[in-house]
Amino acid sequence: MQQVKAVIARAKGAPVELVTINVPDPGPGEAVVQVQACGVCHTDLHYREGGINDEFPFLLGHEAAGIVEAVGPDVTDVAPGDFVVLNWRAVCGDCRACNRGEPQYCFATFNATQKMTLEDGTELSPALGIGAFAEKTLVASGQCTKVDPSARPAAVGLLGCGVMAGIGAAINTGGATRGRSVAVIGCGGVGVAAVAGAALSGASPIIAVDIDAKKLETAKRLGATHTVDSSKVDPVEAIKEIAAQTYPGAEGADIVIEAVGRPETWKQAFYARDLAGTVVLVGVPTPDMSVPELPLIDVFGRGGSLKSSWYGDCLPSRDFPMLVDLYQQGRLDLDAFVTEEITIDGVEAAFERMHHGDVLRSVVVL
Ligand code: APR
Ligand code: ZN
Ligand code: ZN
Repeated sequence: MQQVKAVIARAKGAPVELVTINVPDPGPGEAVVQVQACGVCHTDLHYREGGINDEFPFLLGHEAAGIVEAVGPDVTDVAPGDFVVLNWRAVCGDCRACNRGEPQYCFATFNATQKMTLEDGTELSPALGIGAFAEKTLVASGQCTKVDPSARPAAVGLLGCGVMAGIGAAINTGGATRGRSVAVIGCGGVGVAAVAGAALSGASPIIAVDIDAKKLETAKRLGATHTVDSSKVDPVEAIKEIAAQTYPGAEGADIVIEAVGRPETWKQAFYARDLAGTVVLVGVPTPDMSVPELPLIDVFGRGGSLKSSWYGDCLPSRDFPMLVDLYQQGRLDLDAFVTEEITIDGVEAAFERMHHGDVLRSVVVL
């Protein structure tokens, strides 16, 4: 066991605290990782606001990169000294999804078995099974994905959650590729990552939609060919018009990604999609939301598919090393997602700035 500094949420709505926690030595199937960088994500804030569950205290942080310090006795997939990005999809290899060759949908992903605790022994609930606003954290070894060790931790750690969700929504779930048009509604961290994913795939045009002009500027930097300020114009009409400029007769974009998580924007995505196109919902709705009055004949008549994307339907072992290589080659600008580097005592202030919408990601660097 060792003691390290970490950021916890002790009670619903209370400011986060920097405390000392106990990290057990790794047992079978586990690894202790020395965290080098961890991004501040909306999900961390949702945990602290009680929006995920009531299992306080939470050990926050989950978009992280670091160095494996120690592994349990039977661990062979990673070794001390490996540079890894942490993931929350350590696949089991044995559930129905894994057995049918679709481990990206694994129904039985796992985390560390032992618990990290407060100094008084109170068990911590690590955010998304990771908990990386900490000098060191205990995870399942399968949550450690080895990537190019020369990559910048603050940038590649972001692949651990939101950036992967967006890139994967475009490429893995939406099937973006050259010859297809893509529209992204909502250009926060997840949405602009979807724009970047669409750009990587060769899709064109790439239409970014947001109600905030600043977000549209960032989307342009990451590969949007067109932008639509939906506080000013009808985004459905605008997307149709732009898509038809490239593909005459198109009645919308081939792939429309909803990255807000609201019924009205999902409905815009639904109607901004070309016949036989694909809608991808990557924004996360709250349980009280529903889509009112969607004529079933429109669902039938437009064909195509309505999908959701969990974690970008990623397979970390396949996608993280590949995306890190593209980053290293200068083909994927992960640095653009790092608005600022902060210290571990700056998480609460970073939550504040997130509210104002001025940052894509604040990244804690340790
Ligand atoms: N139309 C278009 N864009 C909108 C609208 C709207 N009606 N309402 C909000 N937006 C934009 C915001 O201006 C912002 O740029 O959606 C973006 C949301 O971005 P963030 O709040 O930064 O959230 P992000 O981290 O990108 O996550 C988006 O995915 O993972 C989920 O829980 C997450 O539901 C959230 C979504
Ligand atoms: Zn499985
Ligand atoms: Zn996240």
